[in-house]
Amino acid sequence: MACVVGVDLGTSGLKAVAMSPEGTLIAASSAAYRPRRPKQGWCEQDTEEWRAALLSAMNQLAADRKVDWPPAAMGFSGQMHGSVFLDNRGKPLSPAILWNDQRTAGECEEIQRLTRGKITDWTLNPPRTAFTAAKMLWTRRNLPSVWQDIRTLLLPKDYLRYLLSGIPATDVTDASGTLLLDVRNRRWSEEALEALDIPKGILPPVFESVDVPAETNGADAAAAGLPDGVPLAAGAADQAAAALGMGVVSPGDLSVTLGTSGVVYMQTDGVIHDSSGAMHTFCHSLPHTFQLMGGVLSAAGSLAWVRALAGGFAGGAASCPDYDDLMHLASRSPPGARGLVFLPYLTGERSPHDDPDARAAWFGLTARHEASDIVRAVLEGVAFALKDLLTLAMNLGARPSSVRIAGGGSRGALWLRIIASVFGLTIRPVEIADASAVGAAVLAAAAAAKRDAGTIAGAWVKEKEPVEPSADENRLYEELYLRYRALYPAARDEMHRLTAFAGRYYR
Ligand code: XUL
Repeated sequence: MACVVGVDLGTSGLKAVAMSPEGTLIAASSAAYRPRRPKQGWCEQDTEEWRAALLSAMNQLAADRKVDWPPAAMGFSGQMHGSVFLDNRGKPLSPAILWNDQRTAGECEEIQRLTRGKITDWTLNPPRTAFTAAKMLWTRRNLPSVWQDIRTLLLPKDYLRYLLSGIPATDVTDASGTLLLDVRNRRWSEEALEALDIPKGILPPVFESVDVPAETNGADAAAAGLPDGVPLAAGAADQAAAALGMGVVSPGDLSVTLGTSGVVYMQTDGVIHDSSGAMHTFCHSLPHTFQLMGGVLSAAGSLAWVRALAGGFAGGAASCPDYDDLMHLASRSPPGARGLVFLPYLTGERSPHDDPDARAAWFGLTARHEASDIVRAVLEGVAFALKDLLTLAMNLGARPSSVRIAGGGSRGALWLRIIASVFGLTIRPVEIADASAVGAAVLAAAAAAKRDAGTIAGAWVKEKEPVEPSADENRLYEELYLRYRALYPAARDEMHRLTAFAGRYYR
């Protein structure tokens, strides 16, 4: 029988998987691209690169002899919060502003002012620089000619579905991250739209993740090797799709994704609200269910940065070590990296510190430190940042006995062991690390077979060997975590002064 295809539009590349109806991975394809950082704190993507990546990945699958083409259905997953503004011909008006862009601190204040502090009552979440509403207000103020021509706002993965069908649509999980969704009732918030003066007509209709708002149709579908009429499921935001692709299908199930960002995610059957605002309350990809989610902005992104740095020391991009070499290097440093601590705030931070101007640091360097300690401290610093989120989830009632994990970073055995020992919990990596793409395929399979997505995910997802914490390392990390926790409040004001300094002197 024909396969189903899941597509995940990540931050640094697009991945597609063709899965059998029984959940076997038949083939995978990918295409890379790079976001641009034209100014300090900014992060944008030319949407044409997403389109090219989609066509390339789909053609790779279509050409693979193992794949029974065309697929029975397709599902989509993608980086959250990004803004794709289309004109009346359906063409993007400007580069997409991405989830890790920090230019909108002023707009977050404006949202509070315009809504008289009620935005959280209506949407269950406080303003954050990532959220799409802030990007819309920024565009209205700074690019009035673009704002004037906007006919449709799409989120990144929804733009892919639009390319293949011409139909604008979004799903409840991704719409949650706009700050315009009444999350409790799973529909656009009339109050938020009115207070922010955003015309409802530019927002796409909202669907449940398993719904099928569109079918393939048109030139881009043909260029992707797809005939007309392939059902396109609504799909889910990357974190919700990843959770599904890790088998997070029951209340209390907890997962971690170790992608460019790092996320701690818990499914809940009712709404749980974090009054501190550090954890987001969003819809989950199964109808009537919700999630609590917290994200650190530079997780595997920190390691990718260190890798590029190492390439720079060695003479350029061509000399970048591969990830296995970096892990091997880090494994030569003892737990605790000889007292070196890394704060992973390379692109500011969102949770638990809502601070666009936070800066990263290695703290505690001595002449004894070696390259291995530098890398190990990065792996440990990211694990500590994730522990901050785990602690928040536990304060809100999470009682995990183990944690599922996926994402590119979960391929590193050393990193899994560090996270297990920092958390003091068993870590359960899943067989297919590209869990967002798998989750998107689960939603396609559910749509094609009209079956429950949770049941399909439960049957598909296979775990690898669990990774157990070491009691000795856990004790050491508990102590070092206290030092990690103390550093941000101690350095925050100087971080802000440095960010202001850099803003004055460098573009
Ligand atoms: C979640 C978030 C990131 C992006 C990119 O709120 O901003 O996880 O979805 O993965």
